[in-house]
Amino acid sequence: MSSNELPLNLFEYELCADQQLSVMARDYYASGAWDEITLRDNRAAFERLRLRPRVLVDVSDRNMNVTVLGQSLALPILVAPMAFQCLAHPDGELATAKATAQMGTVMILSTLSTKPLEAVATASQASTATPSPWFQLYVHRDRGLTKALVERAYAAGFAALCLTVDAPVLGQRECDRRNRFALPTNMELANLAASTELEIPHRFQESGLFAYFLEQINPALTWNDLEWLQSLSPLPLVVKGILRGDDAVRAVEHGAKGIIVSNHGGRQLDGAITTIDALAEIASAVNNRAEILIDGGIRRGTDVLKALALGARAVLIGRPILWGLAVAGSSGVQHVLELLQSELDLAMALSGCARLQDIDTSLCCKGSQSSTAENKQ
Ligand code: FNR
Ligand code: LAC
Repeated sequence: MSSNELPLNLFEYELCADQQLSVMARDYYASGAWDEITLRDNRAAFERLRLRPRVLVDVSDRNMNVTVLGQSLALPILVAPMAFQCLAHPDGELATAKATAQMGTVMILSTLSTKPLEAVATASQASTATPSPWFQLYVHRDRGLTKALVERAYAAGFAALCLTVDAPVLGQRECDRRNRFALPTNMELANLAASTELEIPHRFQESGLFAYFLEQINPALTWNDLEWLQSLSPLPLVVKGILRGDDAVRAVEHGAKGIIVSNHGGRQLDGAITTIDALAEIASAVNNRAEILIDGGIRRGTDVLKALALGARAVLIGRPILWGLAVAGSSGVQHVLELLQSELDLAMALSGCARLQDIDTSLCCKGSQSSTAENKQ
């Protein structure tokens, strides 16, 4: 690729981003927990699946609009919550918000953002028709702080609360430990710094973020706390980090309107099941009582198609957004989303699906066990 050519796909974005990012940022963004088995397997599991296209269907007029928690989105692809986006670009979360709004979809803002949630809400308003962002919540030991965050998110116009449940403590990412991950002095936890002076500590032989979780995040959170969270605002609750049908049912019983099938991009429990392998069981257990989203390793339009076929209403994209941000700020994020959108459009045309409703379970099956990639091992 010459220096003035745009990346052709999300994998090329990763290569370009690696040249822009500091080692600490690149490692933090890329890494998974321990041996990164789940991180790699999230991708491999998508690659193992095969599509069963329908032919001779009129696909001349295609449409990928979808409603998620009552908001109309232009594509079934949302932006996953990711901490510390100013490590990729000085505009950080504001640039991501602007690009996501421009594309007509939803950004989920991390509690640990490097821009304040009120400014991100403002940057998300491309027009009156633009969907409102969601706020991702990490529940701190200090309940008052969590309450204040939820109230601020509601007041700023966020449309849903996304509670991440797979991180009572942080997974061990060994490069962050080696790098003694910390934020540069010109960045802060913008949602928390003003009121409490919380910050990512500098630690000898430890990731500062790992230490932050140990000290600040509440590992005693249980299903019973979901009622309390919902009493803090009228925002609908989405539970992120579910990998089992029985937990998905519990989430629904405790009031969740949405479920995100996620293993945190392989960053928490290494060896955890891949999300696409967990999806069908969860979709069947939930049985349309909540909307199901999924993330982890989605890099191609065909991955989106496979996820929708197996029961997701929409998907979330994580790291590729950070790659777009590192390469070209807001326009890079927008281009990443455009690439996935046009790949999905093409994949729908080639598989006989004019609308998302045409994508059903029969479109996807397990691939042969003796595929070339597996034989090479
Ligand atoms: C994350 N993720 C995450 N999740 C969350 O609920 N709150 C957060 O603050 C973060 N922060 C975060 C930072 C970085 C650098 C990454 C890569 C991921 C997890 C994220 O929302 C999502 O689940 C995965 O990233 C999805 O996998 P892919 O698309 O990155 O493979
Ligand atoms: C991470 C946290 C912040 O994955 O969710 O780094």
